[in-house]
Amino acid sequence: MLTSPAPADAVNQDRANGVPRPMTVPEFRAAKSRGMPLAMLTAYDCTMARILDAAGVDALLVGDSLGMVVQGETNSLGVTMDEMVYHARLVAHGAQRALVIADMPFMSYQVSPSQALENAGRLIKEARVHAVKVEGGQRSASAIAAIVAADIPVMGHIGLTPQSVHRLGGFRVQRDLDRLLEDARAIEKAGVFAMVVECVPAEIAQKITAAVHVPTIGIGAGAGCDGQVLVTHDILGLFEDLHPRFVKRYAELGQAIRSAASEYCAEVRERRFPGPEHAFR
Ligand code: KIV
Repeated sequence: MLTSPAPADAVNQDRANGVPRPMTVPEFRAAKSRGMPLAMLTAYDCTMARILDAAGVDALLVGDSLGMVVQGETNSLGVTMDEMVYHARLVAHGAQRALVIADMPFMSYQVSPSQALENAGRLIKEARVHAVKVEGGQRSASAIAAIVAADIPVMGHIGLTPQSVHRLGGFRVQRDLDRLLEDARAIEKAGVFAMVVECVPAEIAQKITAAVHVPTIGIGAGAGCDGQVLVTHDILGLFEDLHPRFVKRYAELGQAIRSAASEYCAEVRERRFPGPEHAFR
């Protein structure tokens, strides 16, 4: 009897053969049962999306962290739907293989489930992303259910939810196990295909991961999650204002850009650039 391969098998084969094939929501979800760790990074423009996509990330998150790392604000609360649509469209344009997920910004889904659905629809139709991300546990379940009912895949986000910064009194580690488990179960029931778990102790993140059937994507949540996400500007040393404990710096591009730009300035001032090889005859 002929059987078609399970989606996760297909992911595995592609990784083994090095053939880039687009990641899909079912494959992303199935990675959990296959025990395949998922790697997600943020992106906010087409150039970075192309580079990260070519590097093989499974998903690109157009995070509302753009409020901080692109717009220079102290939190993400001011990011608008129009700004999210704009940046998400740039990222979707640059991605060939990665699943592209866009954040629903503050006050784009809290008013009512129909407001949430309308704004999620904009990100799919205008920005052409594959899925949206909604912050919050039980309090966001009805918004998530409304979006999922329209066949728009939703990634959840529990633990430290940065849009709750004022209620939480800052960006703090979340340690209430019962509440976190209730949140995880509520959004799984509402239909999320995966969930970000941010800034919770590693043992709690492990318990959440064991309690749900969808992948958990950790940030500051230890090694027991089904995948990891970090802000790209953090791992590249481009965002130097904060140094959270959970970030590993894989490059020092801020420093590299400063020295490249100051070398350029010096060469221009000393008339060493442009040289004959940079001029037209
Ligand atoms: O906005 C964002 O970049 C995020 C990630 C840090 C998970 O939500």
